[in-house]
Amino acid sequence: MEKRLRIMETAIRDGQQSLIATRMPFSDMEPALAMMDEVGYDAIECWGGATFDACIRFLDEDPWERLRRLRDAMPNTRLQMLLRGQNILGYRHYSDDVVDYFVKKSIDNGIDIIRIFDALNDLRNLKTAVASTKEYGGHAQVAMSYTIGEPYTPEYWKDLALRIQDLGADSICIKDMAGLMVPTAASEMVSMLKSEVEIPIHLHTHCTSGVAPITYYTAVLAGVDCIDTAISPFSGGTSQPSTEVMVETFKGTEYDTGLDISKLEKIAAHFQTVREEDLKSGLMSTKVLGTDIKTLIYQVPGGMLSNLVSQLKEQNAEDRYLDVLQEVPRVRNDLGMPPLVTPSSQIVGTQAVLNVLMGERYKILSKETQEILKGKYGQTPMPMAPEVLARIDESERITCRPADLLEPELAKLEEEVGEYKEQDEDVLTYALFGPVALEYFRRRAAIRNGVDPDAIDMKNKSYPV
Ligand code: CO
Repeated sequence: MEKRLRIMETAIRDGQQSLIATRMPFSDMEPALAMMDEVGYDAIECWGGATFDACIRFLDEDPWERLRRLRDAMPNTRLQMLLRGQNILGYRHYSDDVVDYFVKKSIDNGIDIIRIFDALNDLRNLKTAVASTKEYGGHAQVAMSYTIGEPYTPEYWKDLALRIQDLGADSICIKDMAGLMVPTAASEMVSMLKSEVEIPIHLHTHCTSGVAPITYYTAVLAGVDCIDTAISPFSGGTSQPSTEVMVETFKGTEYDTGLDISKLEKIAAHFQTVREEDLKSGLMSTKVLGTDIKTLIYQVPGGMLSNLVSQLKEQNAEDRYLDVLQEVPRVRNDLGMPPLVTPSSQIVGTQAVLNVLMGERYKILSKETQEILKGKYGQTPMPMAPEVLARIDESERITCRPADLLEPELAKLEEEVGEYKEQDEDVLTYALFGPVALEYFRRRAAIRNGVDPDAIDMKNKSYPV
């Protein structure tokens, strides 16, 4: 039976997020969008993740306006975004009314598929986003944050996948954000999922450790429905495997993608010029290119390793790097073996640094460590270490869905954003990024009025003009 492999293109979201810290302005992608729209991709991932934050913080772009322009430029292709469950695109849990409104506005402005994940794989943190996506006519794809370690048995993944299907998800993504998945693991996981669940299975990985293209190859032979790839100039390194390589790999086989390589070549030619500019400016550096085998050895995401180095540098303690690397798996174990992805990777990393630098483990608990111990991020895959848990008063611990404790907050946010609001969506930008959003709103007004935004006084709370 012919089984056409589908391709999800990531260049303008995860590709550029991984290789140039999400700093690609809309103007750098715009010339390629019409060509991308003609390829016949399963979807184009173009929004969410860190793109929203980067738009307002660094690029003076309204993320909602960017989405509308992407929609206009690509009318024939499904547009996909990445959403961090109850965190939306921010770093705390939001109340259900904010999650629901965000999902509604994302779909209203052009998103077709919302890929939703939770750092702890606690599905209670996804259920509002999934329900809202379905309600507003979107495709809800739930991603399982992939990791390895004691609790992550085939039974764990099977049970999780079945519960995702029961939740009403339209598809499942195996999200290997760190590039940890080796070919045999992919083959076993995909075979198991294809025989246990009915909804399509997607695979997402990163080239960081170098193994990704082989992992995709075995996953495809095992029957995966769709793989995530990036057009060649934004592939490899910490990004995804190259779209063209995967298309050519399966050409003429029963998995043939049917995509036209000459169309991909033209898209690649455009992004090659962007890549060269980014290399020249230093935005793209050798640090993210090439192969970094540390991920496979330490089972720690590449981005987390560079965060640890910079935290230690700040404390003039770079010589403690190896001690911290050894402390990371111990802290992870103490905190219930979470997958290492935002925000759990930061929680574990920061606590490991504290434990090493203080000379005594858990002498100081970071605010985030306290929150995870209290159950505020949800349920961890394994029980947490009793002696660490004992540092938190029992009355402060919760076992319910964390968002059940949050009152609706949209009305209050509407009030706070007040005079800054120029469109309905601004309240969501403000909900996610608070003061950074307000600063962006001031810059946006200045730019529109022909005033240099760098010349305005950011401390002045009123409009610059
Ligand atoms: Co990714």
